[in-house]
Amino acid sequence: MAFSESFLTELTERNDIVDVVSGYVRLGKKSGSNMFGLCPFHSEKTPSFSVSPDKQIYHCFGCGKGGGVINFIMEIENLSFPEAVEFLAKRAGMAMPEEENDWESRKRSRMLSLNRDAARFFYTQLSTPQGSAARDYMAKRRIGPATAKNFGIGFAPDTWDSLEKAMREKGYTDFELFDAGLVRKGKNGGYYDTFRNRLMFPVIDVRGNVIGFSGRILGDGEPKYMNSPETLVFNKSRNLFALNLAKKSKSGYIILSEGNIDVVSLHQAGFDSAVASLGTSLTPEQARLISRYTNQVIIAYDNDGAGIKAAQRAIGILEKLDLKVKVLRLNGAKDPDEFIKLKGADAFRNLLEASENQIDYRLRTVTDKYDLSVDEQKVEFLKEASDLVARLPGSVERQVYAMRVAAMSGVSADVVTKEVERLRKKLVNQASRSEARQQSRPERQFQPEDKALRYDDPSSAAAEEGIIRLLYLDPALARSTALPDREEFSSPALGHIYSVLRDKIDRGETPSTATLGGALAGQEMSLLVSLLQKPELLSRGEQTLADYIKRIRDRKEQGRQVTDLRAFADKLRETKGYEG
Ligand code: UTP
Ligand code: MN
Repeated sequence: MAFSESFLTELTERNDIVDVVSGYVRLGKKSGSNMFGLCPFHSEKTPSFSVSPDKQIYHCFGCGKGGGVINFIMEIENLSFPEAVEFLAKRAGMAMPEEENDWESRKRSRMLSLNRDAARFFYTQLSTPQGSAARDYMAKRRIGPATAKNFGIGFAPDTWDSLEKAMREKGYTDFELFDAGLVRKGKNGGYYDTFRNRLMFPVIDVRGNVIGFSGRILGDGEPKYMNSPETLVFNKSRNLFALNLAKKSKSGYIILSEGNIDVVSLHQAGFDSAVASLGTSLTPEQARLISRYTNQVIIAYDNDGAGIKAAQRAIGILEKLDLKVKVLRLNGAKDPDEFIKLKGADAFRNLLEASENQIDYRLRTVTDKYDLSVDEQKVEFLKEASDLVARLPGSVERQVYAMRVAAMSGVSADVVTKEVERLRKKLVNQASRSEARQQSRPERQFQPEDKALRYDDPSSAAAEEGIIRLLYLDPALARSTALPDREEFSSPALGHIYSVLRDKIDRGETPSTATLGGALAGQEMSLLVSLLQKPELLSRGEQTLADYIKRIRDRKEQGRQVTDLRAFADKLRETKGYEG
């Protein structure tokens, strides 16, 4: 929906960007009027993420992302523009403006209420006579009634249409059931229940909405799980099973496991911060979601080859967000569920306390690859382990781990330390050389961070940026000069920003990140904010604007002449019969 300018202005006034950003990023170190912190959108060690309290914008000098407070929330909470507006309205205790007829949001809320009703239906089936098979299976897996209630676990009966009938009675249509993935189309044109004779786990998002289902077969058989398809409200890669419960945990960490059953079992044993990644390998979106609630993750994946591989991938993704990562070693059990059943909750708690940090874990996976009693393998081990240690940022850390590597291989600590520092120097040199290379290419400098927006003609683009900057800062200029058409812009992105900007000004609105946010793509907003960072003299605004316009037209003319010359040359070659 479109929001009024006055609503958006009040919204941004009541959500100070410094306050909002501080909920996610530790801001400190004022430099000029800006505050700096570590960018939440890319991994970095020195702060290049700036927030301007005056301009109420953020901008990262590293990755180029930028915008106003609404864009920040869109980016970090993974929300659409209207969702971010709603999020901030709630935060500030503002009522949302009446929305008429927003078809998609009505559809969304219908689907959520259908899912909720379906979850209730499944839950009640557990205590019916036909639910006995599910009760038996739960008893076998030792899932108690309190746990079933906590998770809303239910049962989809072994029939073709129980759910469909029950939901139709509640007033939902087959189309709605189909869109929600709860029924499928049969050959005869009818519909049948998607989930039959399965133990049902509702997937609930952090706001408490039932967004989908995961159904496990009772016993052995294929497929073991059936999941809701992607729908208007369900996106597997952006949600985690049980995060709705885990986010309330006081443990200070999140336990990341693979299976729904593992999660259920962990919660039942008192580990209430366990989540699972819905059958996909951990995605960056899921990691970002986790990072909203904790800064420490303990990985408890299955104790097999696939689990170890998946853990290594997950470590990489989680570390990028500066999360502390530890990995559990489930000795003697294939997964957390089995571990708890075989050895009990106390044993699991001991494991948690003894869990390795990711450096230990990586070092151990390197160690496991080699037989250190064989000399050649020992050499390979030293190479790989030293390289790993050389990449650690802290010198004390490097020293400590160099000594550990030395002890493991029986080589003197001195030799390992020297090797590590030699590799370290090499790495540092490589890094600074590549930085120097980048800086020695001036034409590269005047380009947006986002490669998709690269300028074909940086010289013209510089003037185009200038025009946007002037109009944004002083919209009155739009009245006084003969402005270029959008088509005269050489960069499509700048052209689009320009036309949206003019549209606002023509309607008498004051441009701001809030009022432009609904019409610009995220990358365009970042581009706008970054070009606004560059200095512009407003005192001779009209003259500057005219100069910019002239530059764009001159560049166009030059381009045309070059093309004309080429065409002329081609023609000459043709008529004189020259070889191409
Ligand atoms: P697992 O096979 O380890 O399942 O798959 P589990 O939940 O631990 O169940 P048990 O203990 O073996 O009975 C891990 C996760 O992968 C997804 C599910 O989310 C499951 O919890 N998965 C698995 C599927 O989506 N489809 C499948 O066919 C299998
Ligand atoms: Mn499992």
